Amino acid sequence: MPQPALGALSDGIYGAELDRRISAATERITAWLSGDSRVAQPKLAAILGSGLGGVVELLDDEPRLHLSYGDIPNVPQGAVAGHAGELVAGTAGGTPILVLSGRAHPYEGYSQREATILLRAVLALGIETLIVTNASGGLDPEFDPGDVMLISDHINLSGENPLLGPNLDRFGERFPPMTDAYDAALRAMAREAAGRTGVALREGIYIMLSGPSYETRAEMRMLRGLGADAVGMSTVHEVIVARHAGVRVIGFSLVTNKATDDVETGATHAEVIEMGKVGAQRLVTLLGDLLPRLA
Ligand code: HPA
Repeated sequence: MPQPALGALSDGIYGAELDRRISAATERITAWLSGDSRVAQPKLAAILGSGLGGVVELLDDEPRLHLSYGDIPNVPQGAVAGHAGELVAGTAGGTPILVLSGRAHPYEGYSQREATILLRAVLALGIETLIVTNASGGLDPEFDPGDVMLISDHINLSGENPLLGPNLDRFGERFPPMTDAYDAALRAMAREAAGRTGVALREGIYIMLSGPSYETRAEMRMLRGLGADAVGMSTVHEVIVARHAGVRVIGFSLVTNKATDDVETGATHAEVIEMGKVGAQRLVTLLGDLLPRLA
């Protein structure tokens, strides 16, 4: 049933309508997973950002199931090159994991509610731990393109919140706390994995802007002054719905370019993709060690 527009929520996707869309997506995913008992009850999920498709290769060869986002009702597909746009179900060292390979971004025009339908549909399966990944610009002058940053906290400067509108009580409470959004125990495990694999790991605060334009020099100075170490256009809305649902979160950001006010030229999308590959290789190494330990 269409609902009357609720103030600023002009997309009509909120409350009962949002809940219906999420449920229909969950039903489709459940039916798909029910074909293989080895992956039917995943407790671990991962969202792969730009250029991180290689993480899928860390999964055991068998079983591996694929479901295109286009085959899941109500799920926006995302249009950026380098994104596969599919769910992959498999195991990592025997542990079931559900991988969201590619994401729809709010800058494509989706509300943050719509952009998180797929994630909430997946969380409703009983996911307990979520790994989020993204690409970012380095605000910390020490950061170099290719660095991997463990996210210690975030700042939501996107101008929106995925929980705007009536609360979906089946996921969580109206006013969820966001203190300690990035699980301390999981972060300690990530540092240990970095030590074992020899991957250099930065750690810092991620700030989300809506994009899609990259930052001006004045904005880079401002964001640094606000206390952020890396800037990007995703992830924060996903972490908010995950924490709302009580799911533990660990996040990694691939620094693809410098975002300091003395940078010679601004970031280009091609540069972001290219340097993302360097960081992706490092992150794949680290996750190869970490994934089997996470369940
Ligand atoms: N700014 C915002 N988002 C980004 C950047 C950046 O410099 N690099 C990769 N994603």
